[in-house]
Amino acid sequence: MHRPRLGVNIDHIATLRQARGTLYPEPLLGAQLAQLGGADQITVHLREDRRHIQDRDVRLLREVVTCPLNLEMGLTEEMIAIALEVRPDTVTLVPERREERTTEGGLDLQPRADVIADFAAACAGRGIELSLFIEASEEQIRLSKQVGASIVELHTGEFAEAKSGHQAAEVARLRSGAQLAKSLGLTVAAGHGLHYENIFPLLEVVEIEEYNIGHAIVARALFVGFQAAVAEMVALLGDRRPPHPWRPSTR
Ligand code: PXP
Repeated sequence: MHRPRLGVNIDHIATLRQARGTLYPEPLLGAQLAQLGGADQITVHLREDRRHIQDRDVRLLREVVTCPLNLEMGLTEEMIAIALEVRPDTVTLVPERREERTTEGGLDLQPRADVIADFAAACAGRGIELSLFIEASEEQIRLSKQVGASIVELHTGEFAEAKSGHQAAEVARLRSGAQLAKSLGLTVAAGHGLHYENIFPLLEVVEIEEYNIGHAIVARALFVGFQAAVAEMVALLGDRRPPHPWRPSTR
């Protein structure tokens, strides 16, 4: 068995900075420490309201980060233009509502399938992989393939919030989604609400090749340091490398 990749979401370093409008803490430093801790990918979400990550963060990360950079964003004209210009290694489309505390629920692909397909083609033309953050439902997974995504990130929020009695059912739902996605040739990622304890049952879903984790790592970093917090999560994911070669940055 090889270990799945870890994408470290550094948004909440920027949340702390924006809370006071200071120059610190610097997300770039977090990204570099995450890499030293063994992160396979750096993930940031550029929200429409810029509540944490700022445009300059994305541009500077693009210059500095040497592992793949994953940009999460809503499907707006503004974000599309930024993504195509900055060229992260991966774009993950997420649903976004201003009033939400964090990303709640997966993307519903049906209403905007044509726009997403056009964006998928534009990404392919620029060497950007397209990932869609969706619920583990058959409809959304099949649509992801149809619109031309290469990765699906399965929303693990319901799993993370499930009481222990319901957790097994959530793992089973994520497993069957992951199996379907893999059988269609999609790379399977997972994320949202994962932490150092609830990750264990999900690790049994061997089709999941990548986890994107943010809040729990940034929170633990307050007490053990960022590099150590990342290294602890990497250790939980196992000590071997992923089944297919590490994706080098396109820059
Ligand atoms: N994956 C996606 C697509 C997300 O939107 C988020 C939250 O920004 C995460 C992963 C990370 O979630 P958490 O901060 O709960 O670990």
